[in-house]
Amino acid sequence: MARKKLIAGNWKMNGLTADGTALAKGIASEVKALGKVQCEFLVCPPFTLLAAVKKALRGAKVALGGQDCHFENKGAHTGDISPLMLTDLGCSYVILGHSERRADHGESNELVCKKAVAAHQAGLKTVICIGETLAQRDAGQTIDVCSRQILGSVPESATSANTVIAYEPVWAIGTGKTPTAQDVEEVHAAVRKVLAQKLGRGNASKMRILYGGSVKPSNAAEFLSLPDVDGALIGGASLKVEDFMAIAKNSGC
Ligand code: PGA
Repeated sequence: MARKKLIAGNWKMNGLTADGTALAKGIASEVKALGKVQCEFLVCPPFTLLAAVKKALRGAKVALGGQDCHFENKGAHTGDISPLMLTDLGCSYVILGHSERRADHGESNELVCKKAVAAHQAGLKTVICIGETLAQRDAGQTIDVCSRQILGSVPESATSANTVIAYEPVWAIGTGKTPTAQDVEEVHAAVRKVLAQKLGRGNASKMRILYGGSVKPSNAAEFLSLPDVDGALIGGASLKVEDFMAIAKNSGC
């Protein structure tokens, strides 16, 4: 069965009400204009914009996601957002284990895994991020690191229906640098093998594995035409309607 490509925007800590709403409205009208599309669209704004973006997306086939969540649904966790709060605001997805969370907030594979279980219980689909640092790549550890992250961060509750993997080499995020297409395909194929060991061949063959890290309109076609690349997680270029939509169009959506 063909895997439907997922074009996902990770807005990170960007956008105030006016520009976030305008961005969402722009994406909504472009996606509507595309008519019947081959891809699934997702935007993940900061928590503060979720309600406004939900409204701005009304009527457009664009899913809404959070960028993180806690592993509990309520309680004494100052500053945190729960999976239920995300579904309450209309989210169907949540990004977990992004390298910026792993680096800035010391998130471990174990924590990401716990969050994923809670997110699945709340009915959210998870986009679980993995990827090596430059030092790990230079030491030839890319596949090892990614395999360990998959084994540690992806819970037993993961299925092809509730989980998407995003391979994002840390050194490619926001830098304009990217691996070669061959490198990306090699990692994605290896990740799919590890997923098969962990979750069974059926789930692994249907699970979407996104590439992320300096995806732009000019390189989208190259990456998204690879056999094991099932979409993109887009940071910087998701903040401009034209770029986000050009990536989708160049990917055959
Ligand atoms: P980038 O970010 O597209 O700006 O490199 C990707 C990401 O971190 O998800």
